[in-house]
Amino acid sequence: MPQRATVLLHPDFRVGEIDRRVFGSFVEHLGRAVYTGIYEPGHETADEHGFRRDVADLTHELGVTMARYPGGNFVSNYNWEDGVGPVEDRKPFIDLAWRTIEPNTIGTDEFLQWAEREGIEPMMAVNLGTRGVAAAAALVEYCNGEAGSRWADLRIANGREKPYGVRLWCLGNEMDGPWQIGHKTADEYGKLAAEAGKAMKLVDPTIELVACGSSSMQMDTFGEWERTVLEHTWDVVDHISMHAYYEELDGDRASFLGSGTAMDRFIRRVVASADAVAARRRSDKQITISFDEWNVWYLQSRFVGEKNLPLQKDAPRIIEDVYSGLDAVVVGDLLVTLLNHADRVPVACLAQLVNVIAPIMTEPDGPAWRQPTFHPFATTARLARGTALDLRVTAPTVSTAQHGDVPVVTAAATLDGTEGAVFLVNRSAEPVEVELSHPGVELTLGRGVQVTADHEPAVEGPEHAAKVAAEHVAEVDAPVTSADAGRTVLTLAPESWLALPATLTR
Ligand code: AHR
Repeated sequence: MPQRATVLLHPDFRVGEIDRRVFGSFVEHLGRAVYTGIYEPGHETADEHGFRRDVADLTHELGVTMARYPGGNFVSNYNWEDGVGPVEDRKPFIDLAWRTIEPNTIGTDEFLQWAEREGIEPMMAVNLGTRGVAAAAALVEYCNGEAGSRWADLRIANGREKPYGVRLWCLGNEMDGPWQIGHKTADEYGKLAAEAGKAMKLVDPTIELVACGSSSMQMDTFGEWERTVLEHTWDVVDHISMHAYYEELDGDRASFLGSGTAMDRFIRRVVASADAVAARRRSDKQITISFDEWNVWYLQSRFVGEKNLPLQKDAPRIIEDVYSGLDAVVVGDLLVTLLNHADRVPVACLAQLVNVIAPIMTEPDGPAWRQPTFHPFATTARLARGTALDLRVTAPTVSTAQHGDVPVVTAAATLDGTEGAVFLVNRSAEPVEVELSHPGVELTLGRGVQVTADHEPAVEGPEHAAKVAAEHVAEVDAPVTSADAGRTVLTLAPESWLALPATLTR
């Protein structure tokens, strides 16, 4: 007998509206994300501004709504003024985060204009590592100010009359991390972020601010960091950030497949920390989460570490992880978790967009292609619309070394009018039967997308990515084995992620 799970779903039970910014991504000055990633003048698809059309087209196909820029660790030693004005006057500098000579060819204007042309909302980060209040406020003025003040006038002199209207701003990046240039204690960072945020909102009161949360749930300061930072910044910030990367360690497949549960617990803990601060302050304000870095990253097993990088130039290949079908299933599962927290996670960024731990890869002077992780993201961004439904999942559990007991099946569902989607994950190596219970509601499941895990090591290059897609990503009919009034039974393939369009009528 196959294992069996039940998923109770009803259109009246809702988590919250899905903010489209949850399908964000990230473009950092790191490795080949910018140079030979989104930007490569001379490439056969380059537009008049030097940006690769093939990459932009894949970005649209991926369904990315927003892009965070310019870092990441990079931002903590970045002088944004060095990246604006005539390109021929810009000077290269040593980016200490990634030990790379940054030529400053692409800066704020080039990025924001690319995002605008491509219809992608920008999310900007300010440097609170080596810089502070004045530089942060000046950058907001440069981006969003009307004519008649110093930095807005500089933007206009640089050829851009209309303010960019950047809505979302990160107050630094991973300031809890000892690797961060200008690393700070929670008190030091909290005070600085509160003052920078205050000044930034005085320049433009319409902006939304993200305070740095912990770099991961494993940080020693996790929890206390969130509490301290939010106590300092309560009056100015709107969101707190979360960052999490998952990888398969020592062949522990079960823990890796359970990553979505780890992400779920992390979100619940950050929400609890924020709400505890609200309670202590007797405040009705609800801080939401900007999950502005998440992905599979073989950080511990493949990355040499920032400090061990040689000093390089000309867009070196740094953390260009190659992904498998298994990684794609985990990415799909992480997206299920994000949808299930739609009420508290309005913003999220798959880190990153191109070449650096990315769903899109390129070769300089060559092709751009989709990694296996591209497919669950693109399908979710396409199908998940409207409201996330509050499901009740009852599933057997599997014991994992890293996360303890995790459910074998996870699920999310979305609804926009009567059109919706159902997302299901089977983390077990056996097929699982899932009973969708939808009392009083007629459920019609359409043809969707299934991703199955593989057991092969990921191999670099477009040919292998295409082979994985051909063998492990498929358009499928809903695998329904029986259906009657209020009940639909499906069989999920082993270690698989499934997304199905659905119609729900009463
Ligand atoms: O996304 C790569 C890096 O991971 C980012 O620069 C940093 O914020 C995180 O540690």
